[in-house]
Amino acid sequence: MARKNTTARAPKSGSNSMWGGRYKLGPAEIMERINASIGFDRRLYAQDIAGSLAHADMLVAQGILTAKDGRTIRRGLVKVRDEIEGGRFKFSTRLEDIHMNVESRLAELIGPVAGRLHTARSRNDQVALDVRLWVRDTIDRLEPMLQDLQAALIDRADEHAATIMPGFTHLQTAQPITFGHHLLAYVEMIGRDRSRLADCRARLNQSPLGAAALAGSPHPIDPRHTARALGFDGPMANSLDAVSDRDYVVEFIAAASLAAIHLSRLAEEIVIWCSAPFRFIALSDAFTTGSSIMPQKRNPDAAELTRAKTGRIVGAFVALCTVLKGLPLTYQKDMQEDKEPLFDAADSLELGIAAMTGMVRDLKANPARMRAVAAADYSVATDLADWLVREIGLPFRQAHHVTGTLVGKASDKGIDLDKLSLSEMQAVERRITRDVYRVLTVEASVKARKSLGGTAPANVARAAREARRRFLGRSKGARR
Ligand code: ARG
Repeated sequence: MARKNTTARAPKSGSNSMWGGRYKLGPAEIMERINASIGFDRRLYAQDIAGSLAHADMLVAQGILTAKDGRTIRRGLVKVRDEIEGGRFKFSTRLEDIHMNVESRLAELIGPVAGRLHTARSRNDQVALDVRLWVRDTIDRLEPMLQDLQAALIDRADEHAATIMPGFTHLQTAQPITFGHHLLAYVEMIGRDRSRLADCRARLNQSPLGAAALAGSPHPIDPRHTARALGFDGPMANSLDAVSDRDYVVEFIAAASLAAIHLSRLAEEIVIWCSAPFRFIALSDAFTTGSSIMPQKRNPDAAELTRAKTGRIVGAFVALCTVLKGLPLTYQKDMQEDKEPLFDAADSLELGIAAMTGMVRDLKANPARMRAVAAADYSVATDLADWLVREIGLPFRQAHHVTGTLVGKASDKGIDLDKLSLSEMQAVERRITRDVYRVLTVEASVKARKSLGGTAPANVARAAREARRRFLGRSKGARR
């Protein structure tokens, strides 16, 4: 990058018409660059204008603004919104941020009466409001997407309630489970993600408007009016807190981080499952890419990228906490740095949810392969030990020891447990009967696990039904 003259004036220098009363000169070019947020906070335009409309209505209702001025301002704000949405609005870096870009255009459209809109308001409560509304809107958009992902998982779980796969601990074959059971585990995780977002929404739903710069306003404002108009539960109790609180951004990104971690774990499993040594599932052309050199490759890029985006989201959490941790009350310009991490985290999560939903619906399971792997590596050894406990009353520790000896024997011979002869088994524990072979299949193993929350196919079919009721039942919808 070419070295810049750091004291050079920005082109079109001149004092800012929004706050330039005592300013004679314009900012240094570098000042303008470090100060401006319009490059990213233009995404707040809808919330900014909604807030201004509510504020103007309140000013009229309180007799602070005449009804005529109120109408003019309202008409102007709607026009500005149309211009932005129609792509006709010219954003200016010189005007720093979305608040001043909107207000400046409003003045061009309706003249000096535009200046009355900012009565009893500051950009400090204005930005706090805009970001709050943006986070709330974003939660309301993500919520049905997460529900959709749950619906995809439940559909597939239903379909695979009896499909046997190996369950792993330490990524070592542990016990047979069903694929449906595995998928429903993610439904629970995402259920908690949804409830964390709902929780964040409930706590953020208070209006900061009326705090003005930090201390409140000498005008006879009614913060309850704007709070109600904007769908908040009420106004914030303390004006200093109202302009300096960014807890809702931290909470949102924290909830987003955990949701992303869940998506990432599922993505990682998809990557593993569709690798050649596993071959548990296949993804279609829709969710894989080829290699430019190896014609046989089908790479699960969407899963890999979902896994990677978790890094950005968790990074956003760390970035924001670091920005906030040393700030004295109340508003500090540092807080402008909340937006890029917030937007990036939300965008990354949204993309990840959509990609995972697509992959869950797309994936084709390979039940024969899953069953073969599930049956290998003595995965029913625990069933043998449980049989010894249940049928001949051995203490579990002793049953474990006997089973271990039998696994050792089978392994020495290179055969499965159920291929040991009855006399070979009785040589280790004489009370074993032919009945034991009944429990030494993967089907018997999963079928037996009927305990609450267990993997038995009948359980899984029921759990899928219950999950539908618990998570997909008529949604309460957005409470705006
Ligand atoms: N662009 C600013 C932000 O995002 C808006 C608030 C600016 N307030 C101020 N007093 N300079 O935080």
